[in-house]
Amino acid sequence: MNKNIVLIGFMGAGKSSVAQQLGLRLDRDVVATDKIITDIENRPIVDIFSNWGEDYFRALESKVVGDLARKGNLIIDCGGGVVLRLGNVNLLRKNGVLFYLSASPEEIYERVKNQTHRPLLNTEDPLSKIKELLEKRLPFYEQAVHYQIDTTGKEVDQICQEIMEKMPQ
Ligand code: S3P
Repeated sequence: MNKNIVLIGFMGAGKSSVAQQLGLRLDRDVVATDKIITDIENRPIVDIFSNWGEDYFRALESKVVGDLARKGNLIIDCGGGVVLRLGNVNLLRKNGVLFYLSASPEEIYERVKNQTHRPLLNTEDPLSKIKELLEKRLPFYEQAVHYQIDTTGKEVDQICQEIMEKMPQ
């Protein structure tokens, strides 16, 4: 069984686009923790946060991670906050290679500024929020990851190539 390819990184880092393309190139199934959570709850993430709160979302996220980490051969597109719980990281690392897709706060802002589906960024000053959260999370991403890929200014193709070169054969 091949190890999972696990994509972690901040919102807007390009995890979903990279995951989709990697899936096609490697002929592997692609799963996204956020998609599984919204399917289970049958409502968007903004509603889950506003109705039940972030802790409820994180508990669901951990359950989903636990289920996925037991499988192999997958490309797992993780929500940006998955690294906040060490238990998630330990499970994902057991059977997966973790890639941290990084980008500058300014680039992240450009990528997400017209989107509204991320509750944590629905604030008056999203760029400041991105900087604040990124600073807090950086140690978590760096501690969790096997390989960091800086995505700033790169096309999805190139990012996939870099990931494929780093995967054990
Ligand atoms: C979150 C990132 C989101 C989603 C939720 C919380 C975070 O996923 O899980 O809004 O805490 O960074 P994406 O990274 O796919 O946007």
